[in-house]
Amino acid sequence: MRVNLGQNAQLAPPLRTKNMEGAVDIPARVNGSNDSLPKPHIKPDEYAAMHKRSLEQSDEFWRETANKMLAWDVPFKTVQHGSFDEGNIAYFLEGHLNASYNAVDRWAIRDPNQIAIIWEADEPGEDTKITYGELLRRVCQVAGTLRSLGVKKGDLVIIYLPMIPEAAIAMLACARIGAVHSVVFAGFSADSLRDRVQDSSARVVITSDEGKRGGRTIAAKSIVDAALKECPGVEHVLVVKRTGAEDVPWVSGRDMWLEEKMKEQRAYIPPVLMSSEDPLFVLYTSGSTGRPKGIVHTTAGYILCAALTVKDVFDVHAGDKFGCMADIGWITGHTYIVYGPLVLGTTTLIFESTPMYPNPSRYWDVVDKHGLTQFYTAPTSIRLLRRMGTEHVASYKLDTLRVLGTVGEPINPEAWQWYNDNVGRGQCAIVDTYWMTEGGAHMITSLPGAIRAKPGSATVPFWGIEPVILDPHTGKELHDADAEGALVIRKPWPSVARTIMHDQARFMDTYMRAYPGYFFTGDSAARDKDGYIWIKGRVDDVINVSGHRLSTAEIESALGGHPGVAEAAVVGAPDEVTGQSITAFLALKPDYVYESGEALVKELTIQVRRAIGPFATPKRIICVEDLPKTRSGKIVRRVLRKIVCNEADQLGDLSSVSDPSIVDHLKEKYAEATK
Ligand code: WT7
Repeated sequence: MRVNLGQNAQLAPPLRTKNMEGAVDIPARVNGSNDSLPKPHIKPDEYAAMHKRSLEQSDEFWRETANKMLAWDVPFKTVQHGSFDEGNIAYFLEGHLNASYNAVDRWAIRDPNQIAIIWEADEPGEDTKITYGELLRRVCQVAGTLRSLGVKKGDLVIIYLPMIPEAAIAMLACARIGAVHSVVFAGFSADSLRDRVQDSSARVVITSDEGKRGGRTIAAKSIVDAALKECPGVEHVLVVKRTGAEDVPWVSGRDMWLEEKMKEQRAYIPPVLMSSEDPLFVLYTSGSTGRPKGIVHTTAGYILCAALTVKDVFDVHAGDKFGCMADIGWITGHTYIVYGPLVLGTTTLIFESTPMYPNPSRYWDVVDKHGLTQFYTAPTSIRLLRRMGTEHVASYKLDTLRVLGTVGEPINPEAWQWYNDNVGRGQCAIVDTYWMTEGGAHMITSLPGAIRAKPGSATVPFWGIEPVILDPHTGKELHDADAEGALVIRKPWPSVARTIMHDQARFMDTYMRAYPGYFFTGDSAARDKDGYIWIKGRVDDVINVSGHRLSTAEIESALGGHPGVAEAAVVGAPDEVTGQSITAFLALKPDYVYESGEALVKELTIQVRRAIGPFATPKRIICVEDLPKTRSGKIVRRVLRKIVCNEADQLGDLSSVSDPSIVDHLKEKYAEATK
């Protein structure tokens, strides 16, 4: 076993907890002072020693935690194996367990009537609850259905579903029989779905007749049909009845209603014994090339960190009702709607609607109606609701809440303050949770009863995480207070992704070889004198729109598919609500004839929506004479980034740009477009 022992000598600076500049006190509902509320799991004086132990005695730490939190059919012996250098990380070897047993059966046995899932449907008032007993039956029946179609351990199943309980049930049903699920966000277009189905070689797809969101109907089944035209490998499509629409397109022999198949199945089928390192799911995410990466997470380490972070970071106690507003199609939904809360045996919310439907009070209506104790959302929704005005939140009680979470991008202090004052009423902890698809679970975050928040900082590393800041050019570790550079993680942790499906080489190149020996997060960060981490954002060609990760290359290639486009360059511009927004600069083919600029922009927009999905729609499409390029023809995106960030006066050295006169033209065009 190799864990880079030589480098361990220098740990990050110790955490100071007193008199920290800008830090807020531990708020009333989580500081243990109120006897009618639970005492926090982690107390202020416990963090530093526990974190140190999780790094220095990591085997003991994870052995104890894994034995305490998970139910094992066969106990593990080896806690950790492998290294980032070799790209062969493994945890809890020789151990066997089943994720669906851990998430469902053990709680159904304890109390079948405990609520597992609260489903808040798109239309207010149409909510339903599912007990653990009922969840077990439905998971078994879907698992039995999949098995009846020949799905076996190791087979991959694509799930393309709106935010309905069946999405979670389908995931758990796969886990029960050892099938690997790959959920594709239902906002993805048919083309994107097709690419993912083809890459994964799935034989079975689970979808619904339609979806509902914000009062609108989404033709889920039609999108699947369009995608599958070029996926001859798919033999079966299981369709959930969400709206009961008439005339749902149907391919006989291939398509079947899930409910009908479930009725033929028994209420209980035993879970399949899985080894700790068997893959649990694949989730596609954007990288710096046009091709999405199928990130692979395995069973034991992932569900352990999922449940542990729900317990410690959201300070979940018996009787809590946990609400994560993300979509199941992203990693946040996987970890904090499905696996984390259920493996911990708590009650989780599945929210089908939007923060604006039918009005900007929807979130608060849901919090009060269900008595949510934790509420987790993205800065973009907080900023949006802040803009709508405090009157939409003021009349709600919100007194069941103890912990508020944010995720997806750095939260600006104004939004943090608004969340704290108007939703938390100054009494809730705010946890700014930094992590990523590849990390599986929270990596840097505050802990409600233990760590004083500083608005805008993700604060401190979670158990087992040792963040290191590197000089981005030399790769040398920066140990000074106020260091800023590339954020890497020194040692493996249980929920780190194991590989990219079919592409271990790309996995190694992207994460392990950027700074050899470390895991590269893709972000830059600063560490202040108190040891707090401040995330600055991505340093690769990934842009973050409303917490959705998009690859500039993917959008460029979508635009490049239009017959008029010679070249496209996409950059992220700062945006008050969505964090970043997509700005596309295009050079058209010189002889391309088009009706009007307006019509062309419309066509290009459709092009992107068709290739990726509506959430990737550029905010601005700007046609220019030429793009800034080096002599060898490489696009100098730095120039475009400066222009959209209104830093055109700081362009720096333009000697690499073959025709510097183009810069003025670009500035003019941008000013015109943003007038
Ligand atoms: C990227 C990962 C993790 C689930 C949501 C997005 C950014 C995430 C924070 C935060 C600052 C954050 C990073 C990261 N990010 N959380 N609390 N503060 N930035 O998952 O799509 O894999 O994106 O989101 O840039 O690398 P993802």
